[in-house]
Amino acid sequence: MQFASLSLALGALLLLPTSVSASGCNGTGKPTPDADGKYWIHSEHLKAGFVPYGAAISDLIINDQYGIPRDIVAGWDNATYYSIDEQHPNYGNVPGRYANRIKNSTFEIDGITYRVEPNENPTDEHPEGVNTLHGGPDGWGWRNFTVVSHTKNSITFSIVDPDGKEGFPGEVISYVTYTVTGWDWDISIVALSTTKKTPIMLTSHAYWNLDGFANNETSLAHNHTLHLPYSGQRVAVDNILIPTGEILANEKGSVNDFWSAPKPLGANITSPELEGNCGLGCTGYDNCYTVNRVGPYDWRTDGHVARVHSPWSGIQLDIYSDQDAFQVYSCTQQDGTLTLKRSQGLFDDERFPRTIPQYGCVVLEVQDYIDGINHPAWGRTEKQIFGPADGPYVLRATYRFSIHSTETS
Ligand SMILES: *[C@@H]1O[C@H](CO)[C@@H](O)[C@H](O)[C@H]1NC(C)=O
Ligand SMILES: *[C@@H]1O[C@H](CO)[C@@H](O)[C@H](O)[C@H]1NC(C)=O
Ligand SMILES: *[C@@H]1O[C@H](CO)[C@@H](O)[C@H](O)[C@H]1NC(C)=O
Ligand SMILES: *[C@@H]1O[C@H](CO)[C@@H](O)[C@H](O)[C@H]1NC(C)=O
Ligand SMILES: *[C@@H]1O[C@H](CO)[C@@H](O)[C@H](O)[C@H]1NC(C)=O
Ligand SMILES: *[C@@H]1O[C@H](CO)[C@@H](O)[C@H](O)[C@H]1NC(C)=O
Ligand SMILES: *[C@@H]1O[C@H](CO)[C@@H](O)[C@H](O)[C@H]1NC(C)=O
Repeated sequence: MQFASLSLALGALLLLPTSVSASGCNGTGKPTPDADGKYWIHSEHLKAGFVPYGAAISDLIINDQYGIPRDIVAGWDNATYYSIDEQHPNYGNVPGRYANRIKNSTFEIDGITYRVEPNENPTDEHPEGVNTLHGGPDGWGWRNFTVVSHTKNSITFSIVDPDGKEGFPGEVISYVTYTVTGWDWDISIVALSTTKKTPIMLTSHAYWNLDGFANNETSLAHNHTLHLPYSGQRVAVDNILIPTGEILANEKGSVNDFWSAPKPLGANITSPELEGNCGLGCTGYDNCYTVNRVGPYDWRTDGHVARVHSPWSGIQLDIYSDQDAFQVYSCTQQDGTLTLKRSQGLFDDERFPRTIPQYGCVVLEVQDYIDGINHPAWGRTEKQIFGPADGPYVLRATYRFSIHSTETS
C-alpha cells in the first residue's frame, strides 16, 4: 500500500505518467491508473493513454520527424473531466451500442418496431430530438467501462449494456482491447448479444491532428493528406446527415474524391461543391465512404483503407481494418471552445490560442454502413443485427504509424 502510493506520488512528481503503470497493476493484480485517472500502455515507438469513460483513447504520443514527442489525439487532461465536460465531443470513445445516426430513432427487427431515445436535432414538436446519435443520451460514450485487464502494452475494457437501455432490445456485453506493438495501435472490439436480436455497430471515435496540435504555421489540419483507395462511393445523406438510402459515386476530381490520389483535406475548401457536403449550412466532411474490396482479402495485409499524412510533422497513419465503411469528419463543428491538453500546443506563439479551431482535426472511423438497420436493401443485416444464436460482433483495425517527410504511396 505504502509502496504503491509512493510510486504513484513519484510518478506524478517526475511527470512520468508512463512509469506508474509500467507493470499495469500495483501488486494486487488490479489495474492502476496514474494520478490523472489514465491508464498507459507502451511500445518501442508509441505511448497511449486511456480512460474508462467510453473506453476512450485520451493520448497517443509519437516522435515526429525531428524526434519531438507529439500527442496526436484530442482529449482531456484527466479522467474526471470526461464526465464533467458538457460539449461531449465523443473524444476517442467507442460510441455504442450503435454508432452514428438512427433515422427517426426507430428501426424494425422481425416485424417489431423499436423506438430508441432521441438526442439530436430537437424541434418544438420533438424537444429531445428527431434522431438518435451514438447510442442515445446515455450511450456507451457517456458511461465508464470496467478495466478488466491492463498489461505493459495492452488494455481491455468491458461494458454490460442492459436489456432496454436507451430503448434497445436485449443485453449486450462488449470487450474493447487496445494493444500497442512497435509502430502499431491495434483495436479489437467484440460484442455479444445475449438475450434478443439487437443492432450493434461500433467504432473508435478519435480526433486526430498529426502535428500534435502544435504546428507553428497553422492550427488547421487542411494540409493533412487523405487517401481512401477503396472508397469510390459514399452514403448519401439529407440536411441533418440521415442516410437517404442512395449510394453515390465519388466522381474523379470531385470534392469527395479521395480514392484516385491522396489529397489535402483542405484542397477543396473554397469549392462551392463542398458547401452542404456535411449537412445544411456545413462546409467540409462528415461522410460515410464505403470500402469496396472484392474478397477474399486479408484486411491485415491487403492494403490500408485510409492513409493520412502531415508534411509538417512527417507523421503518417495507415489504417487497416476489416470494416466495410469509413467515416471522415473534418471537425466542422469545432469552434475554439475545446481546450488543448497540457501535452499539446507546445510552442510559444500568441497567434494560436490553446484551443481546437474549426478544421483543426479529423475523426477517422472504421465502421459499417451508417443506419444500415433502416436500409435492408444494402444487405448489412448480418453485419449489424445480432441475437443470441449469432456469432459475436467483431471489429478489427490496426492504426500503423510511420515517419516520412513526404506522403508515400
Ligand atoms: C491497488 O489498486 C486498487 C485499485 O486502484 C486499490 O483498490 C488497492 O487498494 C491498491 N492496493 C494497494 C496494495 O495499494
Ligand atoms: C482536468 O482536466 C481539465 C480539462 O483538461 C482541466 O481543465 C482541469 O484543470 C484538470 N483538473 C486537474 C485537477 O488536473
Ligand atoms: C467515471 O469515472 C470518473 C473517475 O475516473 C468519475 O469522476 C465519474 O463520475 C464517472 N462517471 C460516470 C458517468 O460514472
Ligand atoms: C417515426 O417514429 C414514430 C414513433 O416515435 C413512429 O410513429 C413513426 O411511424 C416513425 N416514422 C417513420 C417514417 O418511421
Ligand atoms: C516551427 O516548428 C518547426 C518544426 O518543429 C521548427 O523547426 C521551427 O523552428 C519552428 N519555428 C518557429 C518560428 O518556432
Ligand atoms: C503545407 O504543405 C506543403 C507541402 O505539401 C508545405 O509547402 C506548406 O508549407 C504546408 N503549409 C503549412 C501551413 O503547413
Ligand atoms: C479538389 O482539389 C483537387 C486537388 O487540388 C483538384 O484537382 C480538384 O479539381 C478539386 N475539385 C473541386 C471540385 O474543386
